[in-house]
Amino acid sequence: MRAALHLALLGAVAGCGLDDPPEVPSWQVDVMPVLAANCVRCHGYPLNPLVPSSFRLDAYAPTSLPGLSLPLEGAGGAGVAKDLATASDPDPAFTTTLTKRMPPNRRLGEREYQILRAWSGAADAVTNEAPRGPGRPDNRAPTISMEELGREGSVLTLAFEVRDLDHDLVSGNILGPTLDVQNQVQVGPIGVVVSGRRTFAWDTTGLPAGTYEITARLDDGADVDGPDGDEDYLEVPVMTVVLP
Ligand code: HEC
Repeated sequence: MRAALHLALLGAVAGCGLDDPPEVPSWQVDVMPVLAANCVRCHGYPLNPLVPSSFRLDAYAPTSLPGLSLPLEGAGGAGVAKDLATASDPDPAFTTTLTKRMPPNRRLGEREYQILRAWSGAADAVTNEAPRGPGRPDNRAPTISMEELGREGSVLTLAFEVRDLDHDLVSGNILGPTLDVQNQVQVGPIGVVVSGRRTFAWDTTGLPAGTYEITARLDDGADVDGPDGDEDYLEVPVMTVVLP
């Protein structure tokens, strides 16, 4: 008993306890909580106008932005993994004119920094993308509910609420009818998913009268389709909209 306790203490002192950062961190289990606690208040979606608009840190994958004829992809955390580790390097000797130290005004804890550093080290040499890694073994899937709050002409006001019993950050898209460049109806992004409750406007100008299914793609960080896939989201029906 005493020996075991002694060994456990030694382990803690030598820094090889259970609390060591994993060699290849998982986005859902290790990385996302560090970003949620330290970065997302400024680098979440909708983006704060003062921060770079090329990435969001409350999502692993790129987001399709609605309202643009060509889908614009703002990178998620995976695509900027190396920048995250560089920007949050707590080493006081660290200086570069290109990178501001993050988070501003304080430093990440050593373990949090080591998680970002290890994750950045696992990034693919060609695509620069860091792996999702295995998710939580007993992960619970996120759910979404949605309602129409009102209409003014062809602009609908919709509200959704995302719930996740594990309190993971949830990202993704609301999908519905959109017009392609030839004015043909196709399924495309009409809204961006964030955790919690959000109201957004959907301009349906030009869409033919009809009944349309609205679905949501929800990503809570879990590895849904295996290590090599990039379809790691649930697609769920959310509501039907009738356009006159
Ligand atoms: C209080 C708000 C705030 C928090 C919290 C914050 N950032 Fe930033 N971040 C900014 C702003 C503002 C900029 C733009 C800096 C500039 O260009 O002057 C920025 C820029 C960046 C950049 C772009 C590179 C650069 O140097 O401009 C990276 C990468 C970044 N942040 C990562 C992070 C990470 C990782 C965290 C958490 C560990 C974090 N940030 C937390 C406000 C924040």
